[in-house]
Amino acid sequence: MKKTHIKLFAVIILIVAVLTSCATTTSSGYQLPKKNVTVSLGISTATMRNGEQRTFTPTFKNTDTPPQLIWSSSDESILKVDQNGTVTAYNTTSGSLTANITASIADNPNMRSICTITVLSSTQAHFITAGPGQDASTQAVISWHSPDPTSTLQYTDANKSDFTNSLTLDGEPTLSEWADLSYIYRYRVELDDLQPGSTYNYRIMLSDGTYSEISTFRTAGTDGTFSFAWLSDVHAATAESMGNITTILNYEREKTDISFCLFTGDMVNQGKRYSYWESWNDSGLLSDMTYAFVIGNHEYYPNKTAEFATPSFYLDYVAIPKNNGDSAPADYWFLYNNVLFICLDTMAGEFASSEIPNPALEKQAKWFEDVIAENEGRYTFIIVAQHYAFLDGDVEGTGFYSFWYPYFDKYCVDLALSSDTHIYSRSKTLNNNKVSEKGTVYMTSPISEGKALDEIINRPEALGERSAFNAVEKKLMGGSYVEVTPNSLTVRVIGKDGNEYDSVTIPAHR
Ligand SMILES: [Fe+2]
Repeated sequence: MKKTHIKLFAVIILIVAVLTSCATTTSSGYQLPKKNVTVSLGISTATMRNGEQRTFTPTFKNTDTPPQLIWSSSDESILKVDQNGTVTAYNTTSGSLTANITASIADNPNMRSICTITVLSSTQAHFITAGPGQDASTQAVISWHSPDPTSTLQYTDANKSDFTNSLTLDGEPTLSEWADLSYIYRYRVELDDLQPGSTYNYRIMLSDGTYSEISTFRTAGTDGTFSFAWLSDVHAATAESMGNITTILNYEREKTDISFCLFTGDMVNQGKRYSYWESWNDSGLLSDMTYAFVIGNHEYYPNKTAEFATPSFYLDYVAIPKNNGDSAPADYWFLYNNVLFICLDTMAGEFASSEIPNPALEKQAKWFEDVIAENEGRYTFIIVAQHYAFLDGDVEGTGFYSFWYPYFDKYCVDLALSSDTHIYSRSKTLNNNKVSEKGTVYMTSPISEGKALDEIINRPEALGERSAFNAVEKKLMGGSYVEVTPNSLTVRVIGKDGNEYDSVTIPAHR
């Protein structure tokens, strides 16, 4: 053979060798390139407790026989993993620790799957959250989580320099189960007999005698004057999304004295995934602000398949008053200074939407009327809040505006706040679904997360002359705050740049 023939022969042999090693043959004899075998751990983030063991069961693509895996840990002092995929977590510090485990395919280590695991210390209080009690001038609700089965709340007037004369309340631990954490104890205590218009310091004492960082909450005053933040839709997944809401809240705090934050839903992307709530925990936002969290549809999601579940995990997180009634699980109300807030569980009506009349909405409405009757004479304004957009959402059949507006007309609800569309909008004052001098202003919050808008379901043209402002063109990202006086409510909407984009003043008419 000539040299060129030898070269050609060698090339042919090489091609044949490559094709036979990386190809599959179809019934017609045509050879397809072979796809790489891939591995997936199924989740990219998880939470474990100190001492907990968990075995990962990876899945594979492009093979019928599971390939051999090599398991490794980025830090063996936090996560040990054996070659069967069983991970043991260690954390004897007082805070959380994080490390990764990796499963790589032995004969192709570039094919791998990584899971970042947050390990909770045995003596650590997590998600320490304060919310208003039903009478927010004298009552508050505090909630926290801990792997520690014995922990205690201490609270004291913030004017006292230490906790020497603090009051102590034992929390009743209940087991709370999550999609990515086997269990954790959840504590909830209700505080009574507080002083109106006061700031309190509080902390959690763990069974080993250590304490959490000090947090603060505030009770409502009684003089008819206060401001609150109204934010929504952060879908917390990253430090960046929490950074955006922090920026907006800080702008609002520069402009006025914010007493608490009303958050109208979608705090997290998947409610049952503990790792999403970690973003709230790590943001620092919870330690010096009281939150009235209103449930969104995302709080009902157990995982990314977006099937709805019960909101038990949401109720395990937030510090809200119990509704004491035969209503949807996350319905609640509170009286803050001169305003009656009624917060609706947005999914109640949707679950029963095929039934006419809708039994869940009927129940909610009965509860709504009972709450108003119970508080007769105690308020100047009524603000109703739910996640699904009342007016804009009506086009999609989610907000149940047609169901609710006769009730809002009947009881002269001043403001109906909602979100979900991610587009800021405001209606004119409406009564009987028509523009009117007296009635209800319907508002839909801008998204506070700062990511590109991916869903636009409100249509200003569908609202016609009922629409007063719609930010669909501006793609506004931001939040709002509401200034309350004995004579008026003023809502101011600010962008992520700190500029004011809209405002409306609603005079008192009671
Ligand atoms: Fe959302």
